[in-house]
Amino acid sequence: MTNEPTGLPPRSGLAGHWSLDPGVVFLNHGSFGACPIRVLETQNEFRARLEAEPVRFFIRELPELLDTARLKLAAFLRADPEGLAFVANATTGVNTALAAIPLAACDEILVTDHGYAACRNAVEVAARRTGARVVEVPLPFPLAAPERVTEAVVRGLSQHTRAAVVDHVTSPTGLVFPINEIAAELENRGVILIVDGAHAPGMIDLDLTGIGAPFYTGNCHKWMCAPKGAAFLAVRDDWRARTHPLVTSHGAAAPLVDRSRFRLEFDWTGTGDPTPWLTVPSAVETVGALDPGGWPGVRSRNRRLALEAMAHLCSVLGFQQPCPDGMIGSLAAIPLPPRTDDNRRSNPDIDPLQERLFRDFSIEVPVTLWSVPPRRALRISAHLYNAIEEFRYLGVGLAASACG
Ligand SMILES: Cc1ncc(COP(=O)(O)O)c(C=O)c1O
Repeated sequence: MTNEPTGLPPRSGLAGHWSLDPGVVFLNHGSFGACPIRVLETQNEFRARLEAEPVRFFIRELPELLDTARLKLAAFLRADPEGLAFVANATTGVNTALAAIPLAACDEILVTDHGYAACRNAVEVAARRTGARVVEVPLPFPLAAPERVTEAVVRGLSQHTRAAVVDHVTSPTGLVFPINEIAAELENRGVILIVDGAHAPGMIDLDLTGIGAPFYTGNCHKWMCAPKGAAFLAVRDDWRARTHPLVTSHGAAAPLVDRSRFRLEFDWTGTGDPTPWLTVPSAVETVGALDPGGWPGVRSRNRRLALEAMAHLCSVLGFQQPCPDGMIGSLAAIPLPPRTDDNRRSNPDIDPLQERLFRDFSIEVPVTLWSVPPRRALRISAHLYNAIEEFRYLGVGLAASACG
């Protein structure tokens, strides 16, 4: 354990690998991730190399550097490297996939009410552009079994359903959805699935080839702990020819010598900072080395901590656990009573409970909202730098704060 000089509870002995402020009990890895010092140093090395000779770096070196990073990421995700495009974030991944799907006025796009609000906006815009209709499937929470999710998604389909955007791990409720089963059901019915896997890489042992969805997007800057701006869109081979980056650049017309149009287009969308993508291998190696069991050890350690923390907080609040253990990765959400003053799906104001926990206890933990009328939950995140003592301290903070 790291003994903090602040009077706050100790973090884990691995916390020194991160530059997180010791004056904050950081229980919100889920929102933006947190990148270890060693990984940031690697990114700085790439940046120094770029700035030492920008032309050499971008023209002569970058294509091969991207290939190396892509191969490492493809192995981590069990994905086909030929269909793996680096993008800045999962929001871009979802928007890019939506732009590739031909939608017509009578089509329906299925989403669930546990989806991420920004990606839901992208679906609404795609629907407005084409005249398609968005069909939202309500899901219960608490949730008794993963099968309830698959059943609800299937029930929401009609003969007009053309596409579906379904999360692998939900943002407001921290649930791991049975994505293999959902992907198989949708494939059988000819529905084009975009998986929003923003939270899945580094939290779940992924096999993108096995899932077999036409589109799967995920962030490397969340649970893999890569620098911000590292994400991917994996596109199945039958969809690659019609999938293009949102920005058209040189690759659209470059001669096809040793790379596919897909690779040429996605690897260059104009001058930018490619170092988050190039640093993905460092994140895979650095974080994987922090547990003797490698990445399987990292994932199961985080999951154990999330489960123990959830059980503790449920007992402090007097609630039943809201879902089976099998639906928990390294996020967990505990339903809270609704706020009486709010009827919006996504609230730009920070929830008063979240504010109180931060102000009075220096705890960074989000209160999430989803559905209409809005439901509310406290969402915890467990990564290697966290310790159970921090969640017990959160329990003290919750007991001292009214939850409304
Ligand atoms: C399910 C889900 N999708 C998409 C995103 C968006 O991620 P980003 O901001 O990196 O695009 C998030 C972020 O938390 C998320 O939880």
